[in-house]
Amino acid sequence: MSAALARIEPLRLRVHRTPLILRITHWLNALAVVLMIGSGWRIYNWYPALPFGFAFPVWASLGGDPHVTQGLSGEDGLANALAWHFGAMWLLAVNFAVYLAYGVFSGHFRRDLLPVGPRGFIRDFAAAARGKLAHRLGEQNAVQKAFYWGVMLAIVVMLLSGLGIWKPVQFSGLTWLFGGYEFARVVHFLGMSAIMAFIVVHVALALLVPKTLQSMVTGIATEPADEGGRR
Ligand code: HEM
Repeated sequence: MSAALARIEPLRLRVHRTPLILRITHWLNALAVVLMIGSGWRIYNWYPALPFGFAFPVWASLGGDPHVTQGLSGEDGLANALAWHFGAMWLLAVNFAVYLAYGVFSGHFRRDLLPVGPRGFIRDFAAAARGKLAHRLGEQNAVQKAFYWGVMLAIVVMLLSGLGIWKPVQFSGLTWLFGGYEFARVVHFLGMSAIMAFIVVHVALALLVPKTLQSMVTGIATEPADEGGRR
């Protein structure tokens, strides 16, 4: 064996696996959230919660072609949008509950998404702003953890404020908790805005670190064992 060959060391790989249940619940959550937002935009256009005369682009909303629905039922897709919204609501509620139960009982939340506190958040946020935040497969930094908890909280607020708007008589206590029917609609709108902001940042980061996306889709991704601190 030549001296050059003798110096070559075998490449050591870190393998990261994403359990099937996490992948299924993640993508079903994403689907349900997109359906709820798309249909919510059509509902908002029909009955705006804010007084600014602002409307979402119809092409980006869910509820069918307004020309067709005008001909069929004399409205611009509200009935379709409501059907999508309530259908996706059950998907989100059940699937999100499965995700939360898995996260708690498997130890996934404790292991991977905790602890998270203001000191770690500020440290990692400053490092990210300087482009110096390390990323290792399967290890979430404090900013990611805070964002994940934030979006979970936003989903809970959306489900509860939605219930308060949908059934203000049966869930009058919930409606009251959100400041009454009209204010619950504003909270619902603000929650949607927060989730939209999360999605924009989240998708951009997933595309920046495609190995995480690979693992979230196929369940497995590898990186060189010494690869830490690099994007
Ligand atoms: C639309 C609503 C979405 C929500 C609410 C959401 C939420 C989340 C949450 C809570 C996690 C952490 C999962 C855990 O470890 O328990 C996560 C991880 C992840 N999500 Fe999403 N997600 C959404 C959409 C997307 C989309 C569209 C993409 C892809 C383009 C994506 C790609 C990923 C990836 C790659 C990870 C793993 C990140 C890592 O391991 O560093 N997500 N998402």
